[in-house]
Amino acid sequence: TKTYVPYKVKDISLADWGRKEITLAEAEMPGLMEIRKEYGPSKPLAGSRIAGCLHMTIQTAVLIETLVELGADVTWSSCNIFSTQDHAAAAIAAAGIPVYAWKGMNEEEFNWCIEQTIFFGEDKKPLNLILDDGGDLTNMVLDEFPELAAGIKGLSEETTTGVHRLIERERNGTLVMPAINVNDSVTKSKFDNKYGCRESLVDAIRRATDIMLAGKVAVVAGFGDVGKGSAESLRNAGCRVLVTEVDPICALQAAMEGFEVVTMEEACTRASIFVTATGNYNIIQPKHFKAMKDKSIVCNIGHFDNEIDMAWLNNESGATKVEIKPQVDLYNLDGNDIIVLAEGRLVNLGCATGHPSFVMSCSFSNQTLAQLELWNNTDAYENKVYVLPKHLDEKVAAFHLAHVGASLTKLSTEQAEYIGVTVEGPYKPDAYRY
Ligand code: NAI
Repeated sequence: TKTYVPYKVKDISLADWGRKEITLAEAEMPGLMEIRKEYGPSKPLAGSRIAGCLHMTIQTAVLIETLVELGADVTWSSCNIFSTQDHAAAAIAAAGIPVYAWKGMNEEEFNWCIEQTIFFGEDKKPLNLILDDGGDLTNMVLDEFPELAAGIKGLSEETTTGVHRLIERERNGTLVMPAINVNDSVTKSKFDNKYGCRESLVDAIRRATDIMLAGKVAVVAGFGDVGKGSAESLRNAGCRVLVTEVDPICALQAAMEGFEVVTMEEACTRASIFVTATGNYNIIQPKHFKAMKDKSIVCNIGHFDNEIDMAWLNNESGATKVEIKPQVDLYNLDGNDIIVLAEGRLVNLGCATGHPSFVMSCSFSNQTLAQLELWNNTDAYENKVYVLPKHLDEKVAAFHLAHVGASLTKLSTEQAEYIGVTVEGPYKPDAYRY
């Protein structure tokens, strides 16, 4: 009934620029390029219709074109209202791939975009694979189009928060298709979440504020993978970094790394830069805002904006708000200025361009292998949440060694036997934590 929209982007004339950057990114994404070489000719994704909902960046464009090269039909939306790079979206649209994404959309447009990706082409064939980041596409399909589930072979999920949602579904019996947890591949969460944020957090704060970071006191809430990378990012910039945690293991890790572990009650009077990285909600509360120093910078690098009580700040606090530039707002709360980045949404994608290509190549190689598994090895999976087998995780890492000039040592047969593995791997038991 609704008319088919082939794509919707901010400005299609940005396509040439997008294409040039995609070409540069390809040179930094050896995993995806190896996968194209290895699987491209046999088109193992032929017949698949993959709807993707993941930050529409230059790196994601390389993922999309890898899936297409493997034979898939692909539609795309972004999983965050601020994360699209408009030149990347334009290049993908110009390549004839239905993409619905632009930077700075509103919530209603966000949902409209996701919905466009569910049905393919003029004849509106429904998707048969889901590639998600955060679970918004999954939720829309399972909750609003439940009749489509039977035709979908499975879904792969990119991030910690999306995986939490899937595990909840598995528990309460509403997971109606196999799901691959890409996040918990070692070559995803121990690289993208950690080393990605180590580069992109400070990049975002600098682009947004141009503030001198050296000498400042910063606090990172949460010392999981994202928190570890974020804390190091700030420390490398010369900040003195405080960490808050609820998990004694992560708190002890932070202390061993030389960070001071405090509560937010203490941090809010000492720090002038606040970063939430918990995947939880209500981390920065009204009382913390009220105790902050003048000109404090507040941002979130977790998946959803409710880590910071933005609802209170916007609607109940009585604060005034002035936009300095897009994604940088100055609030005045009881005479104190507070600078909020990206309206409390993912700061590295809202105020900068997300993680560098190389680390996203690791994540997206896992995504591609997950889609291949779901499409070609369907019978091996029940309606549960899986991680990729370790030999694929090791394969993804191996794809990336030459690019950083690493030479791998080969086990001798005797050595392999001595430590109880095979020469070709896997090299570690499943319980190993890296
Ligand atoms: P994680 O589970 O490894 O770490 C979260 C940490 O926060 C845990 O150690 C937990 O104990 C701690 N925490 C929970 N509640 C807390 C509280 N009230 N106060 C202090 N600490 C608390 O998760 P991960 O992988 O670090 O992801 C965190 C968030 O970042 C998720 O929402 C994830 O989806 C998102 N993410 C964002 C990325 C980005 O580029 N911006 C990249 C990857 C993940």
